[in-house]
Amino acid sequence: MSWKASSSRRRRKRGGRTGWKARPGNCKAGRMSSSASWTKPTQALSEAKQQLAALTAVQYPEGTKLAALTFDDGPGKNTTPRLLDELKKRNVRATFFVVGTNAAKYPDLLKRMDAEGHVIGTHTYAHKNLTKVTEEQLHSEVEKCSAIIEQAVGHGPALLRPPGGNYDNRLLAYCKELGLPLANWSVDTRDWESRNKEAILAAAFQKGSYGVRDGAIILMHDIYESTVDAAIEMVDRLLADGYTLVTVPELLRVRAGGAQAGRMYYSDTRYKDSV
Ligand code: NI
Repeated sequence: MSWKASSSRRRRKRGGRTGWKARPGNCKAGRMSSSASWTKPTQALSEAKQQLAALTAVQYPEGTKLAALTFDDGPGKNTTPRLLDELKKRNVRATFFVVGTNAAKYPDLLKRMDAEGHVIGTHTYAHKNLTKVTEEQLHSEVEKCSAIIEQAVGHGPALLRPPGGNYDNRLLAYCKELGLPLANWSVDTRDWESRNKEAILAAAFQKGSYGVRDGAIILMHDIYESTVDAAIEMVDRLLADGYTLVTVPELLRVRAGGAQAGRMYYSDTRYKDSV
């Protein structure tokens, strides 16, 4: 389900500055019929890649607890590098929903995320409420950030998280068209509000459905020092508790058979196709 940049090499018809272009939603459209007597090299390559992906995909033992850490609004100049250092030490991958204005300032941090196996999602260009913008603004907010991501790492975002978690059916339909799944969260640490390590940990580890449990998607923001402090301890506690920490696409690959474009996920099993 990862983004392929092949279609993005074509220039956008509507005259964008960069080459970012959505993958068509219906990938089966170009598939050859079974009666075809030969296999196009590109098709053979794509099938070989799929087989290789299936063979090399990580298998988790029955009963493995999974959770996905997600970080929004960054990258932050000092906070994100420190977080990346600590995740690397622990061999943990996370999902970063970057804001275009910050991503444009720190493309090397995006390159580092990508190189170290983290997943980059888009949190759009300027963090506007996407339910309150015009159609034209919506397209521009999504496309500008995707172009910045592609320019930095050579491929577009894997997922979209709307600013503030705000979405409507227009956004879902647009993401479906772009081939982008959406992800919000099941655990809200409210780190932006408390800016306090202990409060962030208390929110994450609260009892009940709002706390971390198997299949959770955890929301944090990698632009606060207190969040990085809390995230490091959270990772250590979760690992000690037997969790495997994975990216959102990996969580959905294992638990949901992959992420579907235009679908808003809250956890491994909770999602919405309309509001
Ligand atoms: Ni945000």
